[in-house]
Amino acid sequence: MDRGALESGGHGERRLRFPLGSAVSIEELAKDPYPLFRRLRDREPVTWVPELGMWLLARRDDIVAVLADSDLYTTDSERSTIRDIFGRQMLSSDGPDWIRYKRACMPPFRRDELERTVEGTIKDTADDLLAAMEGRDEVDLRAGLSVPLSLQSVLRVMGLPLEDSGLIHSWYQAFADALANFSGDQAVRERGHHAAGAFRSYMEPFMSGDRVAPAESLLGQLLSNEESALTPTEVVSNLLIVLFGGVETADSMISTCLYTVLTHPHLRHDVETPSGDLSGLIDEVLRWDAPVQSCTRFTTRPTVIRGVEVGAGETVQCMLGAANRDPSWFPDPDRIDPTRRNAKDHLSFGAGRHFCLGAVMARMETETALSAFLKAYPDADLIDARAARPRGHEFRRPPELRVRLM
Ligand code: HEM
Repeated sequence: MDRGALESGGHGERRLRFPLGSAVSIEELAKDPYPLFRRLRDREPVTWVPELGMWLLARRDDIVAVLADSDLYTTDSERSTIRDIFGRQMLSSDGPDWIRYKRACMPPFRRDELERTVEGTIKDTADDLLAAMEGRDEVDLRAGLSVPLSLQSVLRVMGLPLEDSGLIHSWYQAFADALANFSGDQAVRERGHHAAGAFRSYMEPFMSGDRVAPAESLLGQLLSNEESALTPTEVVSNLLIVLFGGVETADSMISTCLYTVLTHPHLRHDVETPSGDLSGLIDEVLRWDAPVQSCTRFTTRPTVIRGVEVGAGETVQCMLGAANRDPSWFPDPDRIDPTRRNAKDHLSFGAGRHFCLGAVMARMETETALSAFLKAYPDADLIDARAARPRGHEFRRPPELRVRLM
């Protein structure tokens, strides 16, 4: 999830050598990237995309190798959009700082801790949101379920007051646009900085002790944990990545799973099976349409990927959606098959050291939302399947999810 330097010229021969990559547009990636990914995997698995000023990787094995090598392919770069907007935090650092940040933020996201602190809240919140739909003919499941559920769940783990959720959510679109701002639009960047500045000001009373977060929450622990010794700036920057990572992506995961089940009626049967285990289905939907489409890395020295020379300091974009449909790993990859044995090998939560901090929690939220919704409204029907189709070149999800509740 990041931006590369814009092509400033001098790459004429790359255009000739990589005709498919040269024709790639953000619009095509946003709408339906999968036919393009198929062509890239077959003909230009490592390609240069002038519109993004980045190398794109499309084969699963190349992507796994890049994400495993944080020495050669780092997240630590001045050119990172995440660093630019959120400051130094775990997803734009490597080495000792990354260890310090991730170690400090990890404990509240461990399964046993989540079961103790937030699982009940997730269930109660989902039930309350579904109960609020009663008596209505139609609802938008993003506004009515996936956005408030993901927001309230992550605020709870972080230790920020639920009554501030509206304010906090008002900064989201600016963050999402700025992090996916691969073309370097200055106005988008400024809106991102403005929103991050507003969050930093919002955090001041917590940092000074005028407002207090619960001791077991992430914020409570970060402020009391002397061993991890994060500076106040580092605390707020890491909270920003957790907060953004915890809402934008979980909202996408929940709404994409709901969309997929609503548009593939045979999958409802799986949700309704007595065992109630939705993990296979959820992994398969994550594989089929990843909510986060790429992991961005910056080369620390010149290298060669599949015979292609890549210079030092260049941006290598690992296309997770392309890896997830690589037929060498997933036979018949365009088919949704919840019984697929290796569905969990998808890369939708990343891989290597930057593997998603919130993967367990996002699964908890999605399982709860999916089973509670289909139990409460088993005959619900999508009103406009075309309008609900997931889209987005970086953060991908249904723009809306209007359903008739029946
Ligand atoms: C509770 C919800 C979530 C939280 C709190 C969260 C938080 C984070 C954080 C803090 C990181 C950086 C980890 C590091 O640098 O070591 C991360 C990485 C990542 N997350 Fe999540 N996340 C959540 C949900 C999701 C979901 C639903 C997806 C998509 C299915 C996702 C996809 C990713 C990916 C692909 C990475 C790796 C990025 C990279 O290596 O460049 N996350 N997440």
